[in-house]
Amino acid sequence: MDELIIQGGKPLSGKVRISGSKNAALPILLGSMLVPGEVVISGLPELQDVGTTIELLTLFGCSCRREGDSVSIVAGSGLKPEAPYDLVRTMRASVLCLGPLLARLGRARVALPGGCAIGSRPIDMHLRSLEKLGASFDLDSGDILGHCERLRGAHVVFDFPTVGGTENMLLAAVLAEGETILENAAREPEVSDLAEFLNACGARISGQGTSLIRIKGVESLRNCRYTVMPDRIEAGTYMAAAGISGGDLQLENCPDWALDTVIAKFREMGLEVEAGESVTRVRSSPDLACIDIVTQPYPGFPTDMQAQFMALMCVASGSGMIQETIFENRFLHALELMRLGAQIKISGDTALIRGERRLIGAPVQASDLRASASLVLAGLAARGTTTVRRIYHLDRGYERMEDKLAQVGARIRRKK
Ligand code: UD1
Repeated sequence: MDELIIQGGKPLSGKVRISGSKNAALPILLGSMLVPGEVVISGLPELQDVGTTIELLTLFGCSCRREGDSVSIVAGSGLKPEAPYDLVRTMRASVLCLGPLLARLGRARVALPGGCAIGSRPIDMHLRSLEKLGASFDLDSGDILGHCERLRGAHVVFDFPTVGGTENMLLAAVLAEGETILENAAREPEVSDLAEFLNACGARISGQGTSLIRIKGVESLRNCRYTVMPDRIEAGTYMAAAGISGGDLQLENCPDWALDTVIAKFREMGLEVEAGESVTRVRSSPDLACIDIVTQPYPGFPTDMQAQFMALMCVASGSGMIQETIFENRFLHALELMRLGAQIKISGDTALIRGERRLIGAPVQASDLRASASLVLAGLAARGTTTVRRIYHLDRGYERMEDKLAQVGARIRRKK
């Protein structure tokens, strides 16, 4: 298994280009199954989850051709509705094939998903809302079996603004008969990006970006070309890298418009963030201070940035609190940060971080995607050598992270 070896203590400086968003790319790729003609998706990050999704599309019978950061997908006739466990278990987002398979074929067999080990992560809201459109589900040997006649528009009120649940509904309802209304829908920018992609294919979705989304069903979707949005979490992670290393980074292709809350929190800690025409400049300060954070659905503070802020707070002055309200069991990185000398106390869904620690390098183990990022960040600040193990998690979500960091001066290498 690959490891990252980091010699900390070097301030980063220079330019980093932000890649396309993983969390926008995955539902958009799966959405291409709704279109019988050719769909060309560009701006794709080179990530394992993207590769897995394209492999999944190929297994469904789509013809996929990759070229650089684009893929051409044709989901013609003869599609198969089965997603095997071996692929699905590595990536929770594969549950998003339920919507398109039901809409297009009226049948789906999808293994219950795996993905990051951050809590139980059920899919009950996905299934309940798809049932409202007329689908029914059974469980068979760990697979969800779904079937339906043509889906029919419905009024759905989510108990919680679930990102994946909202996306599955968009993917199903675009071809349903009549209008679907989603209340308490997720407002995340990646949900809006999926809606924009579907509209570019001829869907009639309005209200994306708000908690009330309307989808007027259409008979079929048509060919389109689409570029996925840049990755706001990757951008936020490099902002944290500038902060924790005492550095000065310029981020190209940075989606500032999707990072208001995160940038406000960085500024509250003392970072200088300047959004310019083509780059966003992030400068650290010797006077970084801990703050309090509560994770919330968008536009609140994203759970996917919580671990990175925790690493940054370990070296800032004072003490701060992080409350994680979205996922249970998402503080595994805290124990590993403590191996580097961090002082963190966990009580239920809240972590108390005492700052001003001098971190000292050690071997640590990544437990999930964003936890891995927080350990790399801590390694950039730590004295001596930090070895981050199990970085397959990192490879699922960060494109060439060690190359991008090395380009701006980090002493980091991958050991195969
Ligand atoms: C997506 C993102 C993930 C991010 C999360 C929250 C992708 C591929 N992943 O995950 O990076 O951290 O949004 O911003 O886009 N829940 C249920 N039942 C359901 C669905 C969700 O109880 O049917 C719970 C989950 O366990 C979790 C909460 O609702 O506690 C939020 O989940 P959700 O918004 O659906 O996140 P994901 O789509 O899984």
